[in-house]
Amino acid sequence: PLVNYVDHGGNSTPIDVPANDSVMEGAIANGVEGIVAECGGSAMCATCHVYVREEFLALLPPMGEVEDTMLDLTASERRDNSRLSCQIRMSDALDGLTVEMPEAQT
Ligand code: FES
Repeated sequence: PLVNYVDHGGNSTPIDVPANDSVMEGAIANGVEGIVAECGGSAMCATCHVYVREEFLALLPPMGEVEDTMLDLTASERRDNSRLSCQIRMSDALDGLTVEMPEAQT
């Protein structure tokens, strides 16, 4: 399924991310800048913070307690559509998912 990674300048990079891989893994595997992922996907670093395009929010898995806590520690401001991209696994239902990278991750 396709993920559109939108950088802070508004440029969109569409990438086909394998189902079950996380949105973070898709970015790292393809050299997408703007997602750092220091902890490697354990919801422990908050450097994979993204803003999810509103129309996809309801399709995402609910936020876990750890993710919720980590989102209070992001380098860029937390918004209502903030999520950790390592906690979003791709599926066909999420095809076309669009995420914007924040200005800074660290
Ligand atoms: Fe560290 Fe997502 S990669 S919290």
